[in-house]
Amino acid sequence: MSGPTFDLTGRVALVTGAGQGVGVGIAEALASRGAAIAVNDLHADRAEHTAGALRDGGARALAVAFDIRSPQEVAAGVAAVESGLGPVDVLVNNAGVPIEMGIAPILQSDPAEWGPLVDTNFYGSLHCVRAVAPGMVDRGWGRIVQISSAAGSVGIRLGVGIYGGAKAGIEGALRHLAVELGRTGVTVNSLALGLMGNVDDPATVHMARGVPVGRLGLPADAGAAVVYLASPEASWMTGQTIHLDGGATTG
Ligand SMILES: NC(=O)c1ccc[n+]([C@@H]2O[C@H](COP(=O)([O-])OP(=O)(O)OC[C@H]3O[C@@H](n4cnc5c(N)ncnc54)[C@H](O)[C@@H]3O)[C@@H](O)[C@H]2O)c1
Repeated sequence: MSGPTFDLTGRVALVTGAGQGVGVGIAEALASRGAAIAVNDLHADRAEHTAGALRDGGARALAVAFDIRSPQEVAAGVAAVESGLGPVDVLVNNAGVPIEMGIAPILQSDPAEWGPLVDTNFYGSLHCVRAVAPGMVDRGWGRIVQISSAAGSVGIRLGVGIYGGAKAGIEGALRHLAVELGRTGVTVNSLALGLMGNVDDPATVHMARGVPVGRLGLPADAGAAVVYLASPEASWMTGQTIHLDGGATTG
């Protein structure tokens, strides 16, 4: 009996901000389906650590350190991926938490902290899209997955209003891109994550009580969903924001 295999053998995936956290789970999941992984991070040592672990597990992986907020750095980084692994077939815009990120209600937030949030989540994601999407269109196949947040769709009292606004902004722009690229073989979707956290961490256990399934998300949860969105089987899925949050947002 034949069925979906979510096979990514021969594909090259670029995962931004994959030096730690959610991006590591995404990189591992894509590698498990056969993709070669370009591991980006602002910090070269983090990117190299993730890439080394993937290579130890038998994957093709390359560390590419660059700041997604710089179009010049993004262009050079993508060129390095193309010469090291091949053209990028799958882009996962995962980097989204700038080091400058503070937590504050909007009216108490410092406008000096707004820029990095928008530069990373909105402009940074678009710089990466512009660097890889034309090649995807030329080759007639591509997958763009934006890692977003529930904060982009619902109001919450966590002091992440500007961050949520930046996430909503990139989701909106990418909906347009999905339609513009609708006939090209390139799909564009956003994955809006709920609170992620270590299941054993006492600091986050209390937060899990409000989540219908009773736990916070894990990098592997995000990885599994990205595998689907990146797969050949997901060719009819585009322009969507998919909520992956243990049921925390249902409206
Ligand atoms: N952690 C959560 O609870 C949560 C919830 C919802 C959504 N998300 C989203 O998931 C994604 C990953 O979050 P995380 O918690 O793993 O973050 P993290 O901060 O743990 O790791 C992200 C990595 O991105 C890198 N990075 C930051 N700015 C960068 C830049 N300009 N260029 C390149 N790399 C950069 C950092 O160096 C870091 O290694 C983000 O888009 C975030 O908004 C996270």
